[in-house]
Amino acid sequence: MKKSVLLTGALALGLTASAAHADPQAEVLHWWTSGGEAASVKVLMDEFAANGGTWTDMPVAGGGGDAAMTALRARVLSGNAPTAVQLKGPSIQEWYEEGAIGNIDDVAKAENWDALLPAAIADHMKCDGAYCAAPVNVHRIDWIWGNSKVLADAGIEPPTTWDEFNAAAEKLKGMGITPLAHGGQAWQDATVFEAVAVGLGGPEFYRKAFVELDMDTLKSDQMKAVFDQMRTMRGYVDDNFSGRDWNLATAMVINGEAAFQIMGDWAKGEFINAGKVPGKDFTCTSPSGGAYLYNVDSFAFFNVDGEDNVAGQKLLAKLVMGGNFQKVFNLNKGSVPARLDVSMDEFEFCGRQSNADLNTAIDQGFLLPSYAHGMALRGAQAGAITDVVTAHFNSDMSSEEAVEALAQAVANSL
Ligand code: GAL
Repeated sequence: MKKSVLLTGALALGLTASAAHADPQAEVLHWWTSGGEAASVKVLMDEFAANGGTWTDMPVAGGGGDAAMTALRARVLSGNAPTAVQLKGPSIQEWYEEGAIGNIDDVAKAENWDALLPAAIADHMKCDGAYCAAPVNVHRIDWIWGNSKVLADAGIEPPTTWDEFNAAAEKLKGMGITPLAHGGQAWQDATVFEAVAVGLGGPEFYRKAFVELDMDTLKSDQMKAVFDQMRTMRGYVDDNFSGRDWNLATAMVINGEAAFQIMGDWAKGEFINAGKVPGKDFTCTSPSGGAYLYNVDSFAFFNVDGEDNVAGQKLLAKLVMGGNFQKVFNLNKGSVPARLDVSMDEFEFCGRQSNADLNTAIDQGFLLPSYAHGMALRGAQAGAITDVVTAHFNSDMSSEEAVEALAQAVANSL
């Protein structure tokens, strides 16, 4: 909306000229640059513009957000924080403790967020009891995506355990087909690792190891078995895996160059963006026996000057929690809404499966925060674990050496 129109309306209503001048602005830092991700963030840009906002885009490419977080630190240190930042999990509170994040509790109260969000998600969004971030979705990490035709031609059912996965992969390998499309980047190694850990060890093992950082669990035989499985899976990737971006690995499954990818359901956004139909052209199964590794994307609002920027933050916070936005955004993104009251009727097969599994996991206490995607631990601890996981995957380190290194790295990070 033009300032002059706003001003005329405001004067007619007897509002102060300064409030009337607020023209919502937002510079938004995010890492949604793949095809499916870009289509999703466009939903938000369009809605922001339709509500009178001016969006300045600051995309920082790099799956998992490591590069985006480096860019964020540089901006904050130079005293020029972006207005809104894609930020997740405990790092929200870390930035708050550094005094960098503002509070949007007035919007949250006016829009009744406490009633709209599951308690576990609401807790991630609060700093000292007040909302300081707004959630857009719930991604699930522990998925195995499969190319339906490749699997059918090989006579393979989509795997629901790691034993089934190994049996399928051996068969595919014997037929000359790459079983696993993988991108050899540390965060992708960590994504596979945590899915293996929860599937092999179960929810309590996972919680003790990657939420509580229990030393005995980190050094346990069960953890050795997790590293054994990672070594087995190293044998299922192609020769060119090193450094590959996650969406290029997804493309290999889409094109039938490989059978499977293990990745969060932003991968489904790529399949959908390529016109593929979930449950028909590609399969989605989870090897976690009822557990559910979650990853909630959210926006945090950094301390900035200027009432246009503050108006932009409030508008953005309100829009991302809007019912229609949460539906349309997540249909593109591959995730499910963070809000409890959004109908799943328009969602496809894998989305409905995710939502049903999410509710069962909440009931059973099997809902687990992803360590690899910054939901379970602070940066130093998560980084320490990932360093060992990726060092093991890319060398001939034994599982015994890996668990020792894991416990040591975590101890040093505390
Ligand atoms: C995750 C993020 C997702 C997706 C993915 C790949 O950490 O939560 O929204 O963008 O990285 O970039």
